[in-house]
Amino acid sequence: MKLLRTIDELRDALSQVRLAGRRVALVPTMGALHEGHLSLVDAARASLDAKPAGGVLVVSVFVNPAQFGPGEDLANYPRQLQADCDLCETRGVDIVWAPSAQEMYPAEESLTSVSVAQLGEGLCGLARPGHFDAVCTVVAKLLNIAQPDEAYFGEKDYQQAAVLRQMAADLNFPVEMRTCPTVRERDGLAMSSRNAYLSAEHRSQAPALGESLQLARELIAKSHPPAEDIVRAMSKHLAARAPAGQVEYIQIVDPQTLKAVQQTDKPVRILLAVRFDGARLIDNAAG
Ligand code: PAJ
Repeated sequence: MKLLRTIDELRDALSQVRLAGRRVALVPTMGALHEGHLSLVDAARASLDAKPAGGVLVVSVFVNPAQFGPGEDLANYPRQLQADCDLCETRGVDIVWAPSAQEMYPAEESLTSVSVAQLGEGLCGLARPGHFDAVCTVVAKLLNIAQPDEAYFGEKDYQQAAVLRQMAADLNFPVEMRTCPTVRERDGLAMSSRNAYLSAEHRSQAPALGESLQLARELIAKSHPPAEDIVRAMSKHLAARAPAGQVEYIQIVDPQTLKAVQQTDKPVRILLAVRFDGARLIDNAAG
């Protein structure tokens, strides 16, 4: 496995791969890898290995400063490149690409931004203005630099995956955007690099997010109640089970448009964000 740092190094390595008629898969990450990230790696590896000529699997590790708002956790975000490389090596990654901020954003201020209307505006976009523009911009750059045939994203960040799929379709990126299911801890907490910020007490309350989603799924399966009743039941569960958590939003939306719905007799997506002091956790499920 190679660790590459510059855009030129990655482009050189991948142009040879393409000349040999082999595919390229990209898993964009901010590092601090866990089994959630590694599930994307495994899916990409399996997909490449199923092709006659195989292919090269690239994991990018870049903590994108632009997608952190003022007062967010950029300074504290876990950085552990050596451990990430060790994990990648055990899972059959060919290239870890870890550019510096200077390499990705050499100018003082970058003047171009990619913005996906509507999908990026509600839910997490409300509390994190500019966040999805910064995510789209960096992923557009990553896709242009690596020019992968396949790119992998996690359903754990449901809105992010939807925004990025829309961006790739609208801008005709020649890439298959694939979305993989959420990987959870044994107690149902969705794996996240940010779980490391939780105190022991908050960690014990955090599974309430997954529980409240399960409750919503059961209510919907039983009687398709109006969305507001489901939100009320989820809020009640969270208040009892996770008193330290501050609910930022609980929403029931159309799975494609991410617009709020009232009825739950058609497929919906249930999403929530809950803050435990410095740790902002998100989760979602189909209903
Ligand atoms: P990061 O939070 O490191 O996540 C990288 C990828 O791993 C994302 O597609 C995310 O949805 C996926 N992922 C994280 N936890 C997961 C879990 N428990 N189960 C399944 N997939 C999971 O998301 C980002 O980085 C950045 O915004 C990025 C897309 C790299 C752009 O900077």
